[in-house]
Amino acid sequence: MSEDAAARDNGSVDRFQIISTRDLEKVYFTAQGIVRALGPVSISLPAGETLGIVGPSGCGKSTFLRVVAGLDTATRGKVEVAGKPVTAPLTDVGIVFQRDLLLDWRSVIDNVMLPSELRKTDRKATLQRAYELLEELGVADFAERNPWELSGGMRQRVSIARALLLRPSMLLLDEPFSALDALTRDQMNVILQRLQMHERVTTLFITHSIPEAVFLSDRVIVMSNRPGQVLDDIKVDLPKPRTLSIREEPAFTEITRRIREHFERAGVLVG
Ligand SMILES: Nc1ncnc2c1ncn2[C@@H]1O[C@H](COP(=O)(O)OP(=O)(O)O)[C@@H](O)[C@H]1O
Ligand SMILES: [Mg+2]
Repeated sequence: MSEDAAARDNGSVDRFQIISTRDLEKVYFTAQGIVRALGPVSISLPAGETLGIVGPSGCGKSTFLRVVAGLDTATRGKVEVAGKPVTAPLTDVGIVFQRDLLLDWRSVIDNVMLPSELRKTDRKATLQRAYELLEELGVADFAERNPWELSGGMRQRVSIARALLLRPSMLLLDEPFSALDALTRDQMNVILQRLQMHERVTTLFITHSIPEAVFLSDRVIVMSNRPGQVLDDIKVDLPKPRTLSIREEPAFTEITRRIREHFERAGVLVG
């Protein structure tokens, strides 16, 4: 038996994936009782791929992201990142949440540079990278402004720049555009796609928007009601870059329908 087959046989997860979980479960023990939040889920994500995760509210998507990032621990099962078990908060990862965590008393550029200060990287080289990211995201003109002067969409662009500053091995996005209006959200989808094509960073993208997931992802995982399990794992075989109008094309709507049907069967969507 080869070494790999042996490794799989003894229940270890796949080392060739950036993210790899095996029978991952999360149970919260609260004063009100036990909450089975997630799983079991076995998900793998190869380097360079963008994986979209869609699922109903409260099915454990954010929990999954936190466990992968080492911000929370699994109750059962395994989680490995780049072949190593996750035992502490990961440092080599960029995270963007729905609510941006910009510091209002620091300028935009100083917010983007925060990871550099914390990790003590070379300031000059990193500063150049920071400006390049702001440029790419279309907010370079606001570098010296303060976050409170920016719109919600612009604040999220700054958050993305900060998350990518130190070229993390993966980008975790937890409903980053859910608080934005529809047009801004569309715009952000286009901007993020362009950025990803340049950066090629492995991305886990959580959203409850089915079209958004399909538009941005190479693969979409559909999750069930809590405790979230994988209902479907769909390859999105549409060439990139994609334009927003692709959302009306049959190849696209076929996938969104397939996802919607899962939710209808599960009673998540009615009507
Ligand atoms: N720290 C916690 N303590 C107790 N229950 C939690 C905690 N975090 C999340 N939950 C519960 O776990 C379930 C999954 O939550 P979450 O991962 O936030 O779902 P989603 O992101 O898919 O909306 C929910 O029922 C939520 O109430
Ligand atoms: Mg969530």
